[in-house]
Amino acid sequence: MKSKSDVRGMSYQHQYIKLEEDFGAHNYNPLQVVLSRGRGAWVWDVDGVKYLDCLSAYSAVNQGHCHPKIMRVLIEQAQRLTLTSRAFRNDQLGPFYKELCEVTNSHKVLPMNSGAEAVETAVKAVRKWGYKVKGVASDQAEIIVCQNNFHGRTISIVGFSTDQKSRDGFGPFTPGFKIIPFGDVKALEEAITPNTVGFLVEPIQGEAGIIIPPAGYLKKARSICNKNNVVMILDEIQTGLGRTGKLLAEEHDGIEADLTLIGKSLA
Ligand SMILES: Cc1ncc(COP(=O)(O)O)c(C=O)c1O
Repeated sequence: MKSKSDVRGMSYQHQYIKLEEDFGAHNYNPLQVVLSRGRGAWVWDVDGVKYLDCLSAYSAVNQGHCHPKIMRVLIEQAQRLTLTSRAFRNDQLGPFYKELCEVTNSHKVLPMNSGAEAVETAVKAVRKWGYKVKGVASDQAEIIVCQNNFHGRTISIVGFSTDQKSRDGFGPFTPGFKIIPFGDVKALEEAITPNTVGFLVEPIQGEAGIIIPPAGYLKKARSICNKNNVVMILDEIQTGLGRTGKLLAEEHDGIEADLTLIGKSLA
């Protein structure tokens, strides 16, 4: 369908794209479709053309656009109380923690603003645990990660990425990370030293192209971490809740990570 245009002959799509290009930082390369409306699995662009949304905001809206139950609670809350900050308690946080713990079989939860922030926080938590509990000498903690990982875009995280494009021009990077092949339990065993505090891994590598590790990989990795007193951190930010056929992907191997980072489709 030909895009509608204004009196100057510039299409609506093009006008919006031009505004983004003129006033926004050029750090992303989206498809040239300007969406303005969505309902369930369908979205419409500014010209009224309808599309089936197979991406769902990288799965953040797996529940569909404008889900009536979610809209209802969003509006109810917006009319009741805007924000408390963490300086005060509120009547939503406790029930939310409890429900999330029950759903995911966790002892404690810590909400974050983004996946990258969750990864950064996990890195801080295991380092501190390493120094205070495991007895690693100051500033010597090591965390093992996998080749072709994707854990976000902060400096520390891109520092242990093996994707040159994500790292190019951003050094110097945070030390203390060791990179091993994904799916290789022997490499994990060999990489562990007395200074190893954590093993950070995606149960299924996402951005690398949906790479499923050999059967039993997570189970073996779990027992290697147990044997060596290493914290197992599973980044389930992409595998999400229920996206692999189980609620958490770790359930396929019948294990529980020490820290499970979940995100996307939490609603
Ligand atoms: C496995 C994984 N970890 C971490 C992240 C980072 O999440 P965010 O983009 O919310 O920072 C992503 C993002 O897609 C991801 O797929």
